[in-house]
Amino acid sequence: MKQILLFLLIVLFSSCSKESDVLAEPTSRTLIVYYSYTGNVQAIVDESLKLTGADVVEIQPAEEGLKYEADNYALGSALIGAIRANPDDAGSYPEIKPVDIDFSQYDNIIVATPLWWSNMAAPMQTFLFHNGGKMAGKNIALVVSSASSGISSVVDDAHRLIPDGNFSDEALWINNSNRNNMPSLLGNWIKTLNFSDTMAQKLFITIGNATIAATMVDNVATQALIAALKESPISYEASDYGDFEKVGPLGRSLPTANEQTTTQAGDIVLYNGNQIVIFYGSNSWSYTRIGKIDDISQEKLKSVLGDGNCTITLSLSKDFSTGVQKVHGDANNAMKSSRSPMYDLQGHEITAPTNGQVYIQDGRKWLIQE
Ligand SMILES: Cc1cc2nc3c(=O)[nH]c(=O)nc-3n(C[C@H](O)[C@H](O)[C@H](O)COP(=O)(O)O)c2cc1C
Repeated sequence: MKQILLFLLIVLFSSCSKESDVLAEPTSRTLIVYYSYTGNVQAIVDESLKLTGADVVEIQPAEEGLKYEADNYALGSALIGAIRANPDDAGSYPEIKPVDIDFSQYDNIIVATPLWWSNMAAPMQTFLFHNGGKMAGKNIALVVSSASSGISSVVDDAHRLIPDGNFSDEALWINNSNRNNMPSLLGNWIKTLNFSDTMAQKLFITIGNATIAATMVDNVATQALIAALKESPISYEASDYGDFEKVGPLGRSLPTANEQTTTQAGDIVLYNGNQIVIFYGSNSWSYTRIGKIDDISQEKLKSVLGDGNCTITLSLSKDFSTGVQKVHGDANNAMKSSRSPMYDLQGHEITAPTNGQVYIQDGRKWLIQE
């Protein structure tokens, strides 16, 4: 009997979102495109995501498992040598896995790449050789990771491959002697970008299997909240109040900047210094503004929030549930090994996954291998 009760309780609390199968995929006008061979650029991207909430695309060589550093860097050296010899010939560039980016979705592109023999790493050069023309007029920012070599030739490569990009003044150079300071170097650099004012900090809110994005305002409360979320995502139990809000204790106090506010659906505020309120209706009170949920109807918001108690997780990264920005795994195997339904990124349940597509199952992302 006890077990049945426990089961019922788990079902009650875990299905708080009526539309637990809806995944509202947040979007950003900023895209980070990166390549990383040994993980240094990956670390830069992970940190950037906390600051920008940007969408991310990883460039991957078509052939897996290559050792660029073997035999005294023979392969890496040969790849860069071929590009240097014939930079206008598509055949000089090593193949990469196909990427499908709708560039019309983005105004700003951050290119994050390692340096190889003073130049831009070959796989990133391949990507830009084929796509740099589509970045004309976009704001481009470049961050380069090397062991010690200066990055001026990588900057030249970027200008050659994105001839009509609107480049930010300074590329950021992370190397072995400043790598420990990477978070603060990156944070300061991002503030200098010519599009920094358009990169409002995103807050990702996960309820059940649905993740929605919100844009934060800048005040003492959000600064403290961002600092806390950089450490780790925060989960709290929320409940309905007054038929207009979902409210719950954050588990800590934040500094307040209260002002009399009449809220609307989608507003997120701090109440009493320690409770997060998400409004699906309206109320007038003295609150500290946290932000607003992006592009969502009241009806959709209500169905994502669901009726009754639920667990809400706040995060600076939309992918916190898997802890990965890149997705690996075979969706077919995932489907076979689990009886849970699988969804596409628009929240539609699917029965036959397609090659190269990303799916969600049990709150995890899966990529079906080609
Ligand atoms: C093929 C290859 C060539 C490299 N050439 C240089 C170089 O000329 N100068 C340098 O400072 N670092 C060089 N490096 C080191 C990388 O630039 C550096 O470790 C970088 O942080 C790697 O980023 P990642 O870990 O994201 O791949 C090279 C690395 C590889 C694999």
